[in-house]
Amino acid sequence: FCSLRAQSLIDRQVDSLLSLMTVDEKVGQLVQYSGAPVQRETLVRQGRIGSFLNVLGANSTREVQRIAVEESRLKIPLIFGFDVIHGYRTTFPIPLATACSWDLDLIEKAERIAATEATAAGVHWTFSPMVDIARDPRWGRIAEGAGEDPYLGSAVAAARVRGFQGPDLKSPTSLLACAKHFAAYGGAEGGRDYNTVDISERTLREIYLPPFKAAVDAGAGSLMCSFNEIAGMPSSANRMLLTDILRGEWKFKGFVVSDWNSIGELLQHGVAADLKEAAILGLKAGVDMDMEADAYHNHLASALQEDRITASQLDEAVRRVLRVKFQLGLFENPYRNCDTDRERRDILTPEHREAARKTAQRSIVLLKNQNNVLPLKKELKTLAIIGPLADDKESPLGPWHAMGKPEDVISVLGGIKAKLGTGTKVLFTRGCEIEKPSMSGFTEALDLARQADVVVVVVGESGQMSGEAESRSNIGLPGSQEDLVRALHGTGKPVVVVLMNGRPLAVQWIAENVPSIVETWFLGVETGNAIADVLFGDYNPSGKLTTSFPRATGQVPIYYNHKNTGRPAVDSVKWTSKYLDLKNSPLYPFGYGLSYTSFSYLNLELSAKTLKPAESLLVSVTVKNTGNRSGEEVVQMYARDEVASVTRPVRELKGFQKISLAPGESKRVQFSLTPEDLTFYDRDMKWT
Ligand code: NOJ
Repeated sequence: FCSLRAQSLIDRQVDSLLSLMTVDEKVGQLVQYSGAPVQRETLVRQGRIGSFLNVLGANSTREVQRIAVEESRLKIPLIFGFDVIHGYRTTFPIPLATACSWDLDLIEKAERIAATEATAAGVHWTFSPMVDIARDPRWGRIAEGAGEDPYLGSAVAAARVRGFQGPDLKSPTSLLACAKHFAAYGGAEGGRDYNTVDISERTLREIYLPPFKAAVDAGAGSLMCSFNEIAGMPSSANRMLLTDILRGEWKFKGFVVSDWNSIGELLQHGVAADLKEAAILGLKAGVDMDMEADAYHNHLASALQEDRITASQLDEAVRRVLRVKFQLGLFENPYRNCDTDRERRDILTPEHREAARKTAQRSIVLLKNQNNVLPLKKELKTLAIIGPLADDKESPLGPWHAMGKPEDVISVLGGIKAKLGTGTKVLFTRGCEIEKPSMSGFTEALDLARQADVVVVVVGESGQMSGEAESRSNIGLPGSQEDLVRALHGTGKPVVVVLMNGRPLAVQWIAENVPSIVETWFLGVETGNAIADVLFGDYNPSGKLTTSFPRATGQVPIYYNHKNTGRPAVDSVKWTSKYLDLKNSPLYPFGYGLSYTSFSYLNLELSAKTLKPAESLLVSVTVKNTGNRSGEEVVQMYARDEVASVTRPVRELKGFQKISLAPGESKRVQFSLTPEDLTFYDRDMKWT
């Protein structure tokens, strides 16, 4: 992410600075604390803190930066980090939602806006993108990633890094990216956050690592290691991951930050007897910056004195941190992000809201639309909007919503009311709570439903039911919400279910009985407008799922690129791989999503029948809009290696293109399937 000439100049600057530093100052560069800059002024003055997280605002960051660069001996600037996960103040849809757009430009632009806003408020560095592959929707953090597929996950990871960092790290709107959580955090047993991961090296390398590699190749300046262990080794002490693979194989030149106290947690993991040993393990493995554990701050200097770490190990970590500070231009302009004018001007602008609306429209997935109940006519006489999430302004912000505020959010009710003229009577009641089971609101809800031409029922999870430490053992609709939907369906009125949630939900009864289902995730500040645009046909939905929806929680982990097994399921044969009480297939698969128009695929052609090892194959197909509305389609190419030296998945995504077609229009779509696309780890773990 920096030209070679600039790189070598920076390396010389770093070395020259390093030669002036005391051990305490070196250790200081590796120490990060959360908040409370005022209580830590003395440490900043002594050069014993290199970074803060959660210190925000042009004025607050300017004040503490001033102490670092004017009152400390070597005047090394601080770097300020913050979790900008889906927008700063203009909250965009959660990352799981934007991935469903399969639109890399859109995703990149959304992150450019997030970066513009965050950097206007003092932030240099976001702890994002989260690129963890997640195959288990019980895990709450599935909301923060791009879903279950490594190919799509890699493309999205790179787009998000490009969006945050922009073309030039020194630009005042460039936000340093941090791909996290390295690695396999999403592989937690039972979907329980922070839990043990025990996967093969093949699964690690083929499923979990590719999005990290893509983020590194896109120039991500930092990585965060994960809380979990993999096969006995916690990531914060995992040298194979952080040094051999990351620096050795991938040539990563940025720095690695621990997760919150993850170095300290090496004690609970049981691989370090005390915090000093944890600090030594972390540094030697390749963790450069200690977030909040106080391990490096308290113990690295004495560990050096006792020869338990070497001077060059310490120097190397310091070099990596300083290099990025130089690349960001912090030495030239430590106040690059402390501009109160920009802070006033660049946040929550009408253009940013407009981009959030466009992104939200494209993140929506139409799951079912029997008898074309949707789109609704704007001339409806009476519309009932029911459900605990229908007028909620907090939940649409989703988990980790940075500076997002409920007062900025357009609720579903608000968006629909704004869309409709005075000719339509809009009735509203919550009907029930999100989590607390109670049917006391049903009578009123049914009453309103009976008066209406159509019922829109908005159900799902609260914004805080996904994200960190928000795992669920049952991923059905919480509380009495499914009962509410059943009761409304019982009125015989056409019911549209609008789902709002941070993970796939097991909603089999609804899928089998209710005619229309719209998956909206958590869409951010423009939630209501975007949902109204889709419900009333001003935007034709184009999103496709990036995670499989199970029929029941007992099916998870569930993902499309599974292995065939020696006994693939056959309904009539008992001794095959299946359940007694459920099909193997998901309720809705990866890649699935409907439109208000229809598409047909014609004339599939391959450029050759056989290939030599170095050759690529051209795959082309004509896609035609056979309906009577314009629409966008995500054309997806999958491959299967039917006979190989090791077992291969039944399908693997190898390409996709999103195209737009007018009614009756056709387009020829071409993919190139390269040798790289067909490469995998063979029997001897060779990349073949
Ligand atoms: C813990 C989370 O796991 C991580 O994703 C986040 O960036 C840090 N806390 C800092 O807030």
